[in-house]
Amino acid sequence: MSMTAAASPQSTAEVHVVRATVQDAEGIARLVNYWAAQGQMLPRTLGETYENLRDFFVVRDDAGKVVACGALHIVWADMAELKSLAVEESQHSRGLGAAITRACVEEGRTLGLNGLFALTYRPGFFERLGWRQADVMTLPRKVWNECYRCPKFPGCDEIAMVIDLVPSEAPAAGEVVA
Ligand SMILES: CC(C)(COP(=O)(O)OP(=O)(O)OC[C@H]1O[C@@H](n2cnc3c(N)ncnc32)[C@H](O)[C@@H]1OP(=O)(O)O)[C@@H](O)C(=O)NCCC(=O)NCCS
Repeated sequence: MSMTAAASPQSTAEVHVVRATVQDAEGIARLVNYWAAQGQMLPRTLGETYENLRDFFVVRDDAGKVVACGALHIVWADMAELKSLAVEESQHSRGLGAAITRACVEEGRTLGLNGLFALTYRPGFFERLGWRQADVMTLPRKVWNECYRCPKFPGCDEIAMVIDLVPSEAPAAGEVVA
């Protein structure tokens, strides 16, 4: 899967979102761990990055370096988490984060998921993309699988954001569509 998304209004450049390959793993881990060191997300070992590589989308620069990444990780039949969304600091506000997020949303739709969630300190970023805040306690318990690894556990101060993927006009289960 490869998606070309519109860049931010300030930029005319296109953003190419592609699925990660093994060549991207070190770049993904570098980016995620850079922001993890600043308390913005959970760190990832290189091993975890390889194990979850098929969850990842990336944007590369002209030299092939990973400058943005994000992962869609299925949690249950009806829910997936957008994780490890990270953009290199020098590339911010060019639409890369939005493009990765949209690719994950599109992937969620293709997979038939009802919704996605993310835990974040940047609720405004997600709201601009149509997500809404939710009570973390409404998320499936499986969500907390990784929390014991977080230095802030159990005092989580991240904000839960969700997006529904089933259109309200969708036919009910079993309904025949002419
Ligand atoms: C959040 C992040 C992924 C956004 O990446 P990005 O490529 O700069 O995002 P985009 O260019 O698509 O969109 C940026 C826009 O969102 C806005 N935005 C970002 N954070 C925001 C917030 N908290 N509230 C409101 N708007 C916000 C920016 O102002 C920017 O608007 P502009 O283009 O008009 O200046 C990036 O800042 C990042 O990597 N942050 C560190 C890691 C992180 O916090 N990841 C999210 C964890 S879920």
